[in-house]
Amino acid sequence: MKTEQNIAKWTEKGYADEPIPEGTDLRTEIRRMAREKNAVIMAHYYVDGEIQDLADFVGDSLALAQQAARTSADIIVMCGVHFMGETNKILCPEKKVLVPDLNATCSLAESCEAGAFEAFVKAHPNHTVISYVNTTAATKAVTDVVVTSGNARQIVESFPKDEKIIFAPDQNLGGYINSITGRSMLLWNGACHVHEKFSLEKILALKAEHPEAKILVHPECKGPVVRVADKVGSTAALLKFAIQDDAREFIVATESGILHEMQKRCPEKTFIPAPPNDSTCACNECNYMKLITLEKLYNCLKYEWPTVEVDPAVAERAVRPINRMLEISAQLGL
Ligand code: 13P
Ligand code: SF4
Repeated sequence: MKTEQNIAKWTEKGYADEPIPEGTDLRTEIRRMAREKNAVIMAHYYVDGEIQDLADFVGDSLALAQQAARTSADIIVMCGVHFMGETNKILCPEKKVLVPDLNATCSLAESCEAGAFEAFVKAHPNHTVISYVNTTAATKAVTDVVVTSGNARQIVESFPKDEKIIFAPDQNLGGYINSITGRSMLLWNGACHVHEKFSLEKILALKAEHPEAKILVHPECKGPVVRVADKVGSTAALLKFAIQDDAREFIVATESGILHEMQKRCPEKTFIPAPPNDSTCACNECNYMKLITLEKLYNCLKYEWPTVEVDPAVAERAVRPINRMLEISAQLGL
């Protein structure tokens, strides 16, 4: 039961930690509750495979935003990180948006505090402000157009060559877009703590062991890693490449959750996770994405908590750059 007391207790933890009756078949119950409550379960490719398998929709950041904009569900359960829930809430203010654990934040979003960013924007007048979707609602509110890794290049190129642009918060993605478009966008110096950890040396050592393998790299990685890639792209773009390319082996330099869908779609191919530089682990995981568990998803649907809330005044400003991204993407067929 949801009471004032347990909400107070859950609030401290950021998720509903009610004991689950022994013998509960979590998968069956989650699907049953989703059906009865007209809830759609969405998952990013970085959450655990068992959650991806239960979801109604799995995608990259762009596809998840596009899906939220068109859903007829009453409740959106976003199995991903907080900024994804915020984007859904901004697009669908009348719906209940749930994220199973509010501690699932994002180092990139946190690297761009809205007040400091607004001061930066004010210090550089006459610039168009382009922000990666991995930002808080408050940062989006001081943005002209949002992008994801799936459309950043095309959206930047939709502006005239001499347009003065601020790009935030990911300096790696921004640097990559500058290098392939010949732009010189002013970059905020944020980064993703997961993607920055890929080690060029370890990737090259893997390549020496698997000379036929193609290297797939997310553009949040540092420049030297991006430069050895056979394919640079969003999670969805890397998946598509893996499906369509003739290679039998791939070294994958992005969060290792994507290997689940790659292996499912291409059972005959081998996917080798690129390791981080600071441990003996074979793969590189986002600790925030991995906070989303089946138990938290079950409780979140059962108690319809925690909800994601966005200050309506912030949402009113943040929805414009998100809609602008969706409109440009639709025009470009993305
Ligand atoms: P994409 O989903 O756009 O590939 O981005 C990856 C990411 O870091 C999500 O947090
Ligand atoms: Fe954020 Fe990096 Fe995790 Fe993506 S992988 S959610 S950018 S911290």
